[in-house]
Amino acid sequence: YKIVQVTPKDTEKVLEHLRKFFFREEPLNICIKLLGENGDEECLELEQYCAQTIPEGLSLMAVSASGKVIGVALNGSQEPGHLEEMEAYADSCPHPRFRKILQLLAAVDRASDVFGKFPDVDKLVEVRILSVDSAVRGRGIAKVLLEKSTELAKQHDYPLIRIDCSSHFSALAVGRLGFECVFKMPYEDYRQNGEPVFHPEQPHKEVKTYVRRLRP
Ligand code: ACO
Repeated sequence: YKIVQVTPKDTEKVLEHLRKFFFREEPLNICIKLLGENGDEECLELEQYCAQTIPEGLSLMAVSASGKVIGVALNGSQEPGHLEEMEAYADSCPHPRFRKILQLLAAVDRASDVFGKFPDVDKLVEVRILSVDSAVRGRGIAKVLLEKSTELAKQHDYPLIRIDCSSHFSALAVGRLGFECVFKMPYEDYRQNGEPVFHPEQPHKEVKTYVRRLRP
């Protein structure tokens, strides 16, 4: 396979991959039944969330020899002061289940306080979506996508890359690559109206924020 940059004309084939894998298999999407009881509903809000990141030109995909998309890293830029906008975007999401996920991500963003922890960082690249075809998992494709995403962010002169890992496996992958964990929150501790919102299957116990500095 080869790693190539995702351009706006690739949007539909990237979404086709994500609908099949990420939408169905990311731990929070599973436990909240994002696609409904029978798994046959759409989530246009997640599609839009994915698609709107692509024009930033920071995203990569793994493409097989036959031209099939087998892995995706959708990456976007973040600047200080983005939090209010993100919280408003989350709260106004019309899809009730995806709204819960956006609200969790906004809460993690606020609590992890990456810009507070790294005061010299004025912008960063965030890995928003990481997905690999289930037929080829465990072969290091996610790690290659993350490594190449790091290089691309560095080329664009970003001082830091971050990822909020909802999955135990994405956390293992970034840990291997030398990313530093700067925040974690057990799902048990994330509550709305006093009740935990997410009960993902083992081994997914917590959401973890990892960063890597791209400048000495
Ligand atoms: N069991 C045990 N360990 C695993 C497994 C597994 N099933 N899968 C990955 N790992 C670990 C390994 O430790 C591996 O490192 P090592 O080989 O050095 O020991 C590390 O994770 C990375 O493995 P990769 O082969 O690079 O990962 P892969 O290509 O399989 O993709 C991914 C991982 C993207 C998480 C994939 O499982 C997936 O698409 N899952 C569904 C969607 C999802 O959960 N995405 C991440 C959410 S977070 C986010 O999107 C920002």
